Amino acid sequence: MKYSSLRGMTDIIPSQINLWHYIENKAKNIFEVYNFKEIRTPLLEYADLFLRSIGEDTDIVEKEMYIFQDKKGRTVALRPEGTASVVRAYIQNSLFNEPAPNRLYYIGPMFRYERPQKGRFRQFHQIGAEVFGVSAPSIDAELIFMLKTFFEELNIIDLNFEINSLGCKDCRPAYKEALYKYLSGKVKKLCDDCKRRFEKNPLRVLDCKVKSCKEELEDTPSVLEFLCSECKKHFQLFQKELIDLNVCFKINQRLVRGLDYYTKTVFEITTHHEGAQNAVAAGGRYDDLVASFGGPDTPAAGFAIGVERLIEICSTKINVEENKPDVYVSYMGVDAEKEAKILTKTLRDNRLRVERTYQESSLKSQLRKADKLGVKWVVIIGEDEVKKALYRWKNMKKGTQGEANLTELIKLFREEE
Ligand code: HAM
Repeated sequence: MKYSSLRGMTDIIPSQINLWHYIENKAKNIFEVYNFKEIRTPLLEYADLFLRSIGEDTDIVEKEMYIFQDKKGRTVALRPEGTASVVRAYIQNSLFNEPAPNRLYYIGPMFRYERPQKGRFRQFHQIGAEVFGVSAPSIDAELIFMLKTFFEELNIIDLNFEINSLGCKDCRPAYKEALYKYLSGKVKKLCDDCKRRFEKNPLRVLDCKVKSCKEELEDTPSVLEFLCSECKKHFQLFQKELIDLNVCFKINQRLVRGLDYYTKTVFEITTHHEGAQNAVAAGGRYDDLVASFGGPDTPAAGFAIGVERLIEICSTKINVEENKPDVYVSYMGVDAEKEAKILTKTLRDNRLRVERTYQESSLKSQLRKADKLGVKWVVIIGEDEVKKALYRWKNMKKGTQGEANLTELIKLFREEE
C-alpha cells in the first residue's frame, strides 16, 4: 500500500459508524434535556489560546500540541481540547449577553501528539459540555449527574467518580508554597520534567505519569487542607449535592488534572474496563478563564468524554447494526433495465434504501449479491414482468415470494420495514 493514515489517527469505517451515531445522539438527547445547545468551533486556533489557558508547563502544551506556522508565519495549533476554544467563542460572539446559565456542548476531533497506545490516540474525539454563569456547586454536581445518566443509558454502570478541589487564586498560593517546600526534599529523585516543573509550577509535578515519581510523592500534602473558607464551603456543598443525587464518589486529594485553568472542583470518571484505568471523562470548574481571555468575570464548569474510550467499553454492551439496504432491484434484459432504473428511483423517492444491479449478470449472481448485502427484499424484473407491468418480489428473510404492481409493492415494503 502506498499510503496509510498517520500513526495514532484512525478511520471510522461504515461498520463502526452506527455506534458512533448512537452515542452522539444519546449525548445530544440527554444534553438537550438539560438545555445544552451545540456549538462548533474551528479545529485550528492561534496556539497562544492554548498556551495561556491549558498552561505552558503542562504535558499537553509542552509535548503534545500539533503546532506550526501558517503561510503568513502565524503560530497556530490543532485544538488539543475543546474548552479553550469554547471560551474564546463565548466571548467573541458575546454569548455572555444571553441569560445565564449558558450551556454549550460540542462533539468533534481533538489532537494530541501522545504515544499511541490502547485508548490513547493522536486524533481522538470528545463529547464536551460547558456551562457559563453559575458559581453554585449545584451545577458541578448536575454535570456529573448528567454524565452518570448518559453512561447508564449506554449500559455502563461500573464507574468510579473521583473528585477533588484545587481551591482558588486566593488559597492556591499557600498550597503551592507548601508543596514547593515538600518537593524541595524530594526533587533530586524525580524525573527531569518534574525537576523543571518543580521550579515553575509545582502542582504539575503531581500529575507526572512516571511510576518512580508517583511512588516518591505518595505522602504529598493535601490541597484540601489549604482551601479558604469559600472553597471549603463550595467543596462541601458540592459533595452534599452529589449525595442528594445518589452519585457515589471518592475524594482523591491528588487529583490535579493536566490542565492549568481549573479552580475549585475537578473530577475524573474511570472504569475498570479490561484492567485499564483510563479516564473516560473528566472536567471541572474554571472560574477565572473567561476573564483571563478578556471577557466579563464569568464562573464556568464543564467536562469532556473521550469517545474512543467510550466506544471501546460500549462495543460489547450495545449491539448497533450496520445500515443495510431494504431492497435490491435486479433485472434481466434491456427493457427490464429501463424499468429497474425507474423503479429504483420511485422506491428511493418513497425513502426506501435501495441498491440495484448496474451491470447485468445471471439472476443467480444478482441474488447472491443481494444476499451478501443483507437486504430483506429483492425485486426481479424480467421481460415477462415488463410485459405484465408487474414486479416479482422475494422476501430474503422468510423465503416467500409473489407478484405485485407498484402501489402494492411499495405498501408491502413499507408495512414490513
Ligand atoms: P482531558 O482530561 O484532557 O480534559 O480530556 C478529557 C477526556 O478526553 C479524557 O478523560 C479522555 O477520555 C479523553 N482523552 C484525552 N486524551 C486522549 C487521547 N490522546 N486519546 C483518547 N482519548 C483521550 C479536557 O480535555 C478538558 N477540556 C475537559 C473539560 C471540559 N474541563 C472542563 N470542561
